Amino acid sequence: MDTLSPAPPTVSGHGKHADSDDHVVIAPAILYFGTPVVLLTTENEDGSANLAPLSSAWALGQVIVLGVGVEGQTAHNLRRRPELVVNLPAPTQWPQVERLAPLTGRDPVPESKRGTFRFERDKFAAAGLRPEPSELVRPPRVAECPLQLEARAARVQADVAGSFLIVEAKVLRVHADPRLVVPGTQHVDPAAWSPLVYNFRHYYGLGPELGHTFRSLTPRSH
Ligand SMILES: Cc1cc2nc3c(=O)[nH]c(=O)nc-3n(C[C@H](O)[C@H](O)[C@H](O)COP(=O)(O)O)c2cc1C
Repeated sequence: MDTLSPAPPTVSGHGKHADSDDHVVIAPAILYFGTPVVLLTTENEDGSANLAPLSSAWALGQVIVLGVGVEGQTAHNLRRRPELVVNLPAPTQWPQVERLAPLTGRDPVPESKRGTFRFERDKFAAAGLRPEPSELVRPPRVAECPLQLEARAARVQADVAGSFLIVEAKVLRVHADPRLVVPGTQHVDPAAWSPLVYNFRHYYGLGPELGHTFRSLTPRSH
């Protein structure tokens, strides 16, 4: 099957055919299968900071690729000012993230967000988080986030559906809580760090380590 069918779930196979399987065909409204939550800071027109949760974020070497809804303040800012900070909260910080969830820095609230989102100028205060100056970019870091990546958007382009901007941001500087760093190295200790994972609109942390790839630069945790 290479298309999403709106038909109700159907059990396929059950041994009727040699190539049948035990999966059902579904048409889920969302496909957020579990990616880390980041808190993105960008600069508003008046020089203040906007702060928004995003889960469409992943690393390609020293580049972070982000999916940013075109209607929000973050997209508005990144089209004009390429500097940003990718702040990574810990799993315990999900309530602060969720406080930001119904907010937008866009005023007036765009039609597509009305009824679901409300305008908030000071997202840091709303979330109970503290801005901390960055070293190389204008938007501040989120002081409470254990990992903070200062970055600059090198390419911002529309996605195929026209709903999101795909932002490719080059990381300029990484700030880490020292408790996350393997002593005497530049490595983040995977046993000490856990992302906050957005799993079909529910928040999770990581479970215990299962194994590691042959290219791992850090030892096993147990
Ligand atoms: C956990 C979580 C993950 C989210 N992931 C994304 C995302 O990847 N991309 C996106 O555009 N919006 C995402 N959102 C929704 C935005 O945070 C929301 O649209 C917000 O209003 C954007 O703020 P802004 O308009 O000030 O930029 C997410 C929200 C939450 C709570």
